[in-house]
Amino acid sequence: MTSIPQYMTSKHRECDDYFTEAESAVAKENWSEATGKWQQFSDELALHLTQEEETLFPQFEQATGMTAGPTQVMRMEHQQMRALVQDLDNALNNKAKDEYLGLSETLMVMMQQHNMKEEMMLYPMMEQHLVNGEQLISSFEQS
Ligand SMILES: [Fe+2]
Ligand SMILES: [Fe+2]
Repeated sequence: MTSIPQYMTSKHRECDDYFTEAESAVAKENWSEATGKWQQFSDELALHLTQEEETLFPQFEQATGMTAGPTQVMRMEHQQMRALVQDLDNALNNKAKDEYLGLSETLMVMMQQHNMKEEMMLYPMMEQHLVNGEQLISSFEQS
């Protein structure tokens, strides 16, 4: 049985790994490697954000009655992350190395700050408030 903080944190790490691999492939102008790693990163990130927005956040809001609190901030940051992912996608398609590396730096900082807030605050609060946490995670493990 995996807890919410354990599982969701491990997914942050997986995304980080693909992201770093894509970045170093771009730095070496190894475009096919970069495209593969980038695709893995963006698929994994999209799934993770959806699991938060469509399952974990609503469950947390329902359990605590906090709809204008941390989940609202996290949703806004997800939108900022998605916009940067789109810009990075365009830069990669254009093989625009410098542009990619600049945007990549920005997204990395944004993700680190976002993930830290979830790992230090939101996931532990979810673990505390959601009685069906393990069930939700096992449904994620099967998706
Ligand atoms: Fe998030
Ligand atoms: Fe997250």
